[in-house]
Amino acid sequence: MLRLKNKRIVVLGASGRIGFDLCQKLAPENEVIGIARFRDAQREQALREMGVETFQIDFATEDFDPVPDDADWLFIQVAYQHGAEQHPELAEAINVHLPARAMMYFRGVQGVVFASTGNVYGLPGRVVTEKDREAPIGVYSLTRYAGEQVVKFFCREFNVPTLILRYFYGNDERYGIVKKIAEALLKGELPPVWMGTQVNAIAHEELVERTLRAAPHARVPAMVMNLTSSKPYPLEKIIDLVAEELGIEAPALDRIEEREQMTLAAYTPIQDRLLGQTHIPLGQIVKKVCSGLRTDSGRA
Ligand SMILES: NC(=O)c1ccc[n+]([C@@H]2O[C@H](COP(=O)([O-])OP(=O)(O)OC[C@H]3O[C@@H](n4cnc5c(N)ncnc54)[C@H](OP(=O)(O)O)[C@@H]3O)[C@@H](O)[C@H]2O)c1
Repeated sequence: MLRLKNKRIVVLGASGRIGFDLCQKLAPENEVIGIARFRDAQREQALREMGVETFQIDFATEDFDPVPDDADWLFIQVAYQHGAEQHPELAEAINVHLPARAMMYFRGVQGVVFASTGNVYGLPGRVVTEKDREAPIGVYSLTRYAGEQVVKFFCREFNVPTLILRYFYGNDERYGIVKKIAEALLKGELPPVWMGTQVNAIAHEELVERTLRAAPHARVPAMVMNLTSSKPYPLEKIIDLVAEELGIEAPALDRIEEREQMTLAAYTPIQDRLLGQTHIPLGQIVKKVCSGLRTDSGRA
C-alpha cells in the first residue's frame, strides 16, 4: 500500500478532530508541521510532544510567512461552518480564500488533500455519487463549493496532484450524526428533520485512516471522492440501534415530505474502487457513541 513516508507535511487545522489525528499518524515517519490558532493549548502541547512543529496562525487575518514553504504535502483540514450565514465574510475568508492562499504559498508540493464536504450537493432528496451535479444551498455550502473550484484551478495552474475529499458524517464519542440522534432520543425527541430519511455514518478512525490511504491517489486534474460509509442507512435503522443500545423504546419516525426532501446521502463508488468498502459496521459505531453518552450522564 502506498503511504506517505519521509515527507515534509503541512497540516492546516492541526488541532481539529481530523487534522490532529492525521498529525499523530503521520508524525512517526514524516516531518510534520501543524498549523491552527490552537485555541486549546493542550492540543498544541500534545502535538509538540509527538514531534510536530506547530505554528499559531489565524487564517482569517494572518498569512503564512513564518512557515517554511518547501513542504512536500499539504493537507487543508479547515472550514468555517457554524456562523457562516451570519458572517459570510469569514466563510469566504476561510472556505474560499484560505485554500487559494495555501495552494499559492505551498505551490511546490507533490500533493494536496483538501477536506471538503457532502454539503456541496445541497439537498438532493436522494442518494448521490460524484457523478451528480453539485447544487449548493446557503453560505456554507456555496463557499465550500467555491473552495473546491479554487483548489481545482490551482491544481491545474501549478500542476499539483490534488485530492478533494467530500466527507460525510464522521462519528465518534465527541461528534457526529449518531451522537445527535442519541441525544435527541434521550430527550424524548425525534431526530431533526434536516437529517432526511437516509444518512451515511463512518467511524471517525476509519475516516482518518482512509484520508491517508486516499492521499496517494491525488492527481491532475483534481480527483473528487466522497468519503463516508460505502452505503447510507435508513434513519429508522439507526434509531432502532441507538434506542436498543440506550435501553429505551425506539420512537416511530414521522413520514413527512420535508424529511424526504432533506435527504443528503451518498454512495462512494470511487472510494470503494480505490480503497475497498468501509468495514467498521454501524452497530460498532453506535455502541461506541452510546457508551460515551451513558458515561456522560452517569448511567453506565
Ligand atoms: N469530521 C467530519 O465528519 C466532517 C464532515 C464533513 C466535512 N468535514 C471537513 O473536514 C475538515 C476538518 O473537519 P474536523 O471535523 O476536523 O473540523 P474541526 O474539528 O472543527 O477542526 C477545524 C480546524 O480548523 C482550525 N481553524 C478553524 N478556524 C481557523 C482559523 N481562523 N485560523 C486557523 N485555524 C482555524 C481549528 O483550530 P483552532 O480552532 O484551534 O484554530 C481546527 O484545527 C473541515 O474542512 C470540515 O468541513 C469534516
